[in-house]
Amino acid sequence: MEAVNMTTSSRRTFLAGLATVAATPMLTRLTHADMAGRALPVPPVMETHGAPITLDAIAGSSTFLPGLSTPTLGFSQPYLGPTLRFRRGALARVNVRNRLNTPITSHWHGLHVPAILDGGPQLQIPPERQWSVEMPIDQPAATLWYHSHVHGRTAEQVYQGLAGMIIVDDPSAPDSGLPANYGVDDLPLIIQDRAFRENGAFHYANRGPARMIGFRGDSILVNGAIRPVAAPPMGLVRLRLLNGSNARTYLLRFSDKRAFHQVASEAGLLPKPVPRTSIQLAPAERAEILVDFSDGKRVTLLSGPDHNNPMGRNMPAMMRQMLGDDPVQFPRGKPGEFEILSFEPHGKPRAAGKIPDSFPGAPRPQFGEPVRTRDLVLNMHADGRGPGMQRGGQPSAGPAGSMGINGRAFSMDRIDIAMNRGETELWTIRAAEMRHPFHVHGTSFQVLHNGGQDVAFDSTGLKDVVLVEGEARILVRCDHTSTPETPYMFHCHILEHEDAGMMGQFTVG
Ligand code: C2O
Ligand code: CU
Ligand code: CU
Repeated sequence: MEAVNMTTSSRRTFLAGLATVAATPMLTRLTHADMAGRALPVPPVMETHGAPITLDAIAGSSTFLPGLSTPTLGFSQPYLGPTLRFRRGALARVNVRNRLNTPITSHWHGLHVPAILDGGPQLQIPPERQWSVEMPIDQPAATLWYHSHVHGRTAEQVYQGLAGMIIVDDPSAPDSGLPANYGVDDLPLIIQDRAFRENGAFHYANRGPARMIGFRGDSILVNGAIRPVAAPPMGLVRLRLLNGSNARTYLLRFSDKRAFHQVASEAGLLPKPVPRTSIQLAPAERAEILVDFSDGKRVTLLSGPDHNNPMGRNMPAMMRQMLGDDPVQFPRGKPGEFEILSFEPHGKPRAAGKIPDSFPGAPRPQFGEPVRTRDLVLNMHADGRGPGMQRGGQPSAGPAGSMGINGRAFSMDRIDIAMNRGETELWTIRAAEMRHPFHVHGTSFQVLHNGGQDVAFDSTGLKDVVLVEGEARILVRCDHTSTPETPYMFHCHILEHEDAGMMGQFTVG
C-alpha cells in the first residue's frame, strides 16, 4: 500500500517544504565512477568475558571517496563501532566513554534489559563522562544494534556514525546448524544511505521535505564502504542484514533473481527457514538470510526505490532526485533499482551445506489473551496545522513543525503509557499519509495484522520494528521494569520523525 490518504492540506505542506529546499544548495551529485568496489569492511568484534569492554565515542575522519576525507563519528573507530557479542546467561559489562563535545547516549536496540540500562534519551552521557552498565543477558540469539538516542539529535548523530551491530549468542539453545564463522560465512551487513558534499563531507539536512519524509542519501554504504565487494566462500553463507539508515526502506533482491532463505528477524530465529526472492527492510529492521554461493558466480544485491512519502509513486522524478529519494543510477543498475554490494565467491567449490528444516530453538510467541487495548495514531502534524491532528482528534500539543503520537509531540516530562510487568496488551497503531517503522524498546512483539492483512507468525517471527501500513495490530508484553525517571520509548524509527516528536514514553511497573 502506497500513499495512504494523502490529503490536500498535507500535500500543500509537503510542496511548500519542497520550495524551501529548491532555494538551498543541494548535495553534489557524484558520478560514482570509481568509488565502489572496495573489499567489504568487517567490523571487529568486542566480547565481554567478565572484564568490561569500553566503547569510546570519538570524532574522526573516514575515506569513502577517493582522495577525500569525511569527518565522521564512531565508537572506538572513526565510523560506526565494533560488533558487540553478548552471551545469554552472562553479564555484559560495557563502559561508554563520551570523547565528544556534545552529549550522546548508547541505546541497545532490541536488548531486553530494564529501562535504566537501555540507553534512551533520559540517559545522556555528557562530554568527557563515562556511563557503565552491567546487563544480564537473557534472550534468544539474535542480531541487534546500538546507536545514540539523544532527543532531537538522534538522526544527525546516527547519520554521522554513532551506531554498530550487536550479536546475542545463546549457548543453551540447540545448534541452529547455521554458518557461524564471523566475517567469513557469517557476514554483518550494515546498510546505510548517505549524501556527500563536493569536499567529501557528509551532506545532511533535517528540515523542509527531508524532515517531512526523512532524509535519504544517494550513495549506499555497507559497513562504511560504498557498494563494496564481499568475497564469501563458495557455499552457504549467512548474511546479517541491518537497515541502519535514517529513513530509507529497502526492497532487496539479487541481480540474478536467485532465491534465498530468511532464517531470522529482529528477535532471533524464525520457526523454519522461509524461502524468498526479495525482502523488505525498513529502518532499524534486521533479517538474517542464507544465500547459496556454491555456483561461484559474481552476484549483486540490489534494492528497488523507496516510495515511502506522502505522494507515493506519484512524486515527480525531479523531486525524488532532489530529495535523494532516487539514488543515482549505476552502470549495472536498471531504472528503479540500485546496487547495495556485490559478492565474488572464492575458494574451492564445495557442496552447499544443508539448509536446516526447522529451528527448534526459535523464540515462540507466549502472549496469551491481552488484558488491555491501546490505540496509537502516528501524526505527521502535532502542531494543530496538519491533517494528522483531525485524525488524532485531540488538542494540539507541539511546536511548529512537530510530529507526534495521539496528537501530542514527544515530551521528556510526560509518561504516555503505564504498563504492568508481564501483562499482554493489544496495540493498534495507525499511520496515515505514509508508512512509519514503529519501534518499542525493551521487548519484542508479535505482529497480528498489518496493511489490511493478517500476518502469519512463521513468516515474520518476533519483532521490535513494524513498518505500519495504514493500520497494524501488535501484541506487546514487557518483562522488565521501567520507571518515570528512565522510561522506555516507543517511536517511529524514521529518525527525522522521532526527533520531530513522533515518540512516546512508557513505564512498566
Ligand atoms: Cu533504535 Cu529508540 O531506537
Ligand atoms: Cu530501541
Ligand atoms: Cu515516521
